Amino acid sequence: MTPGEAERPPPPPPLRPLVRTWRLDDTRQTLVLASRGGRLPGVVHWGAPLPRGEDLAALAAASEMDVTGGMLDENPDLSICPEAARSFPGQPGLICRDGDGRPILPRFGCAAVEERPRGLTVRCRDEAEGVAYEARLDLDPATHVLALSARLTSDRPLRLEWLAAPVLPGPQLSDELIEVSGRWVGEFQLRRAAWHPGIRLRENRTGRTGHEHFPGLVVPGRGATATAGEAWAFHYGWSGGHRMVAEELPDGRRQIQWGHAAGSEAAPGTAFATATLFATYGAAGTNDCATAFQRHVRDRLVPKRPGPRPVHYNCWEAVYFDQSLPVLKDIATRAAALGAERFVLDDGWFGARDDDATSLGDWQVDARKWPGGLDPLIDHVHAEGMEFGLWFEPEMASPDSALLRARPDWALGPPDQVLGRGQMALDMARAEVRDHLFAAIDAILSAHAVSYVKWDHNRVLPVPDAAQAHGFYALLDRLRAAHPAVEIESCASGGGRVDFGVLSRAGRVWLSDSNDALERLRMQHDAALFLPAAVTGSHVGPRRCHTSGRTLSMPFRAWVAAQRHMGFEMDPRELTEEEAGTLAGVTAWWKRNRDWTMTADVLRLESADPAIVAEAQLARDGRRFVVFAGRAAASAQIAPRPLRLTRLDPAARYEVALANRAEAPALSRAPLALKEGPLVLTGAALMQTGIALPWSFPETMWVMEGRRL
Ligand code: DGJ
Repeated sequence: MTPGEAERPPPPPPLRPLVRTWRLDDTRQTLVLASRGGRLPGVVHWGAPLPRGEDLAALAAASEMDVTGGMLDENPDLSICPEAARSFPGQPGLICRDGDGRPILPRFGCAAVEERPRGLTVRCRDEAEGVAYEARLDLDPATHVLALSARLTSDRPLRLEWLAAPVLPGPQLSDELIEVSGRWVGEFQLRRAAWHPGIRLRENRTGRTGHEHFPGLVVPGRGATATAGEAWAFHYGWSGGHRMVAEELPDGRRQIQWGHAAGSEAAPGTAFATATLFATYGAAGTNDCATAFQRHVRDRLVPKRPGPRPVHYNCWEAVYFDQSLPVLKDIATRAAALGAERFVLDDGWFGARDDDATSLGDWQVDARKWPGGLDPLIDHVHAEGMEFGLWFEPEMASPDSALLRARPDWALGPPDQVLGRGQMALDMARAEVRDHLFAAIDAILSAHAVSYVKWDHNRVLPVPDAAQAHGFYALLDRLRAAHPAVEIESCASGGGRVDFGVLSRAGRVWLSDSNDALERLRMQHDAALFLPAAVTGSHVGPRRCHTSGRTLSMPFRAWVAAQRHMGFEMDPRELTEEEAGTLAGVTAWWKRNRDWTMTADVLRLESADPAIVAEAQLARDGRRFVVFAGRAAASAQIAPRPLRLTRLDPAARYEVALANRAEAPALSRAPLALKEGPLVLTGAALMQTGIALPWSFPETMWVMEGRRL
């Protein structure tokens, strides 16, 4: 400011640009879009519901920021696709180049916003650059989940580096981000990262959903817990590797962007699309977000199947590659006696697959192991009253396979690449590769009574490549269309391909290769932020866990499996009579209750004791619940702290009883009311005072059933 400037009269305020607004509502949230001066709109409110008559233009005006020293003279929009050409001071929503490598920096005018019931489509175009952008935003009023996606089209081929799904603002009254990382047999680890100026970037460049960076995020409002406070949650429904940017701009605004891993669209093109970004807001703790996602996955995405979820038996950890008809018939008979309803023949039935160094791609039944083909086993499985399921790893081929010997050019990536589990990925972008795989798998499914396919994927890709994920979806969709009664399980070395993209095609995910119940207890608890019980496979593993070496009791293993879609994977010949009796009993309990537990909301409970990992499964009609309180370790204090429940009717009375009272150890010496018989308490008491559980050993589970009176 020069001397004398201060005395001059202030310039007249600039004319306010025209503001147009739109809103999406359900009973839990309102999202308001505002476009200023005919530009691309941005989200100016996403959170608690606003009154019907709210003046949205005034709301947009109220959200405008001041301008002071060190800023541009006007604040660039934080739109649904922030534009570099408008001096946006952060990560843009679009980065692309023309065929000569020249950056294209579109300036979109907002041509049209189409209002659909519960949805908006924004269409705009930059005439000079010849590119058009379209965003879809839909709100499902029943599940409370927003589905957001973006599409870019161009008059000439472009190279796309980055296209974000419609960008949402990050909440201001929030101090941290809850992210999900992990590893093989250690999936779904929650980590908290502080919001800070600049970019928080998570990028998965492995070409599949991966163990390392699950494409989900929860942003708790300040002080939020599982059961109280505001929370926002996100999931990018894509199986090809994603990128997430959570950024705080120099001016304090926050944005959250999701899209495919940068540069994974390798080829130039004239049309690109993001996957669907799922997002939800709740004011009653992170459980609001968790149950919204659980319901959306279960009720909207996963293909519908008639009948109850069947108890699985999977033979992998019982026999590995050592498959023989007499042994597997014996195992099948025993599994059925324990309560199994679906028998899955895992890896090892094809080619000459005696170990993992060979035969992937040769999808013909191994006549050495199966001289009479698979039918004798399938017939036996059916005679035992079970369905039959079969393992495939379609996108892979072993260098030692007839397939790669004949078609080495079908492998994805350079010939001298580092292998993963001794295998290569096939180039799924090639139609002839997909046709070949379709024919091979279709032949097996057509010739045998297979009602279930476990679809595996045991290596990361040599390069991130969106075409590979599109090719996978195309093959899977074609096989599903040809065999609509066959259910798919998505597995990738355990939980490596768990995402809402694959879950719109698969009925189940194999959460982890860890069958260690102690680790599963924590993993299932954290995965419930995104996944419903009905799709989350959980098996009772061998007595001595193969991935941890830990030896865990049968009651604990069985109850942990009973928290989700239950199955067995141990060799039933190792079971003592007592173990078999326990397992059969818990399985019978699971079957008696699955009609409501498999559609229940999984509610993570806030445990006052870090040694206890607890959840409630609350029936959709609120009339019954079951609490699983797992003791992961000994407590610091001597006696158990009371456990508080959630989401009950405060005024209603509930009868609460231990389902596994007989498991109380002798060291639990007091005649606690809960051990002696059912308790009757109000929802208010159960939620505010809580219940003191009996003392228990580490690596045990209390199961408490509740009924509304
Ligand atoms: C990895 C899976 O997660 C296991 O369950 C099993 O199917 C093996 N692959 C088979 O190779």
